[in-house]
Amino acid sequence: MPNYSIFSIPLFWLISLYPHAYAISLIKSSNNNKWDNLNPRGIATNASYQKHVPAECYALFEKAEAAHKNGLESAPFFVGAVVLGNVVGLGALTMNIFSGSYLALRTLYTVLYLRCTTQETSRLRSLTWMASVGCVVGVYVAAGSKWAGKH
Ligand SMILES: *[C@@H]1O[C@H](CO)[C@@H](O)[C@H](O)[C@H]1NC(C)=O
Repeated sequence: MPNYSIFSIPLFWLISLYPHAYAISLIKSSNNNKWDNLNPRGIATNASYQKHVPAECYALFEKAEAAHKNGLESAPFFVGAVVLGNVVGLGALTMNIFSGSYLALRTLYTVLYLRCTTQETSRLRSLTWMASVGCVVGVYVAAGSKWAGKH
């Protein structure tokens, strides 16, 4: 079986980038097609958006950017697991299942981040996050054990 896990890294990056693109489109759609590209993370930029776009739109913008940042924050842990799993030679099936599940969980996480509107349903999002971290930890344990047995 071919091992596709390396492709999961750029795909993961795209999944993490998507909510940022969505955040930009949200602001543009309610702000005369204007997005401050000069200082996109500025405090004055946020204040201006907060003044000019409806509150629900701004809240969704915040959640989209938060989902985007969470993806980038999760990247090192995930990328390390893909690299180490392959370096120690975990099986193709294991690596495909791991990376495929991780991408599915991160997609679900992003959708839930954008869609959930109550504290109760937001816990589902946290569950998908925990499950994705569990997958990564599993690969580190498997890779670490294999490496320890050989060295
Ligand atoms: C402005 O808001 C965005 C979205 O919530 C956030 O990512 C960014 O950090 C904020 N900038 C500042 C300076 O707080």
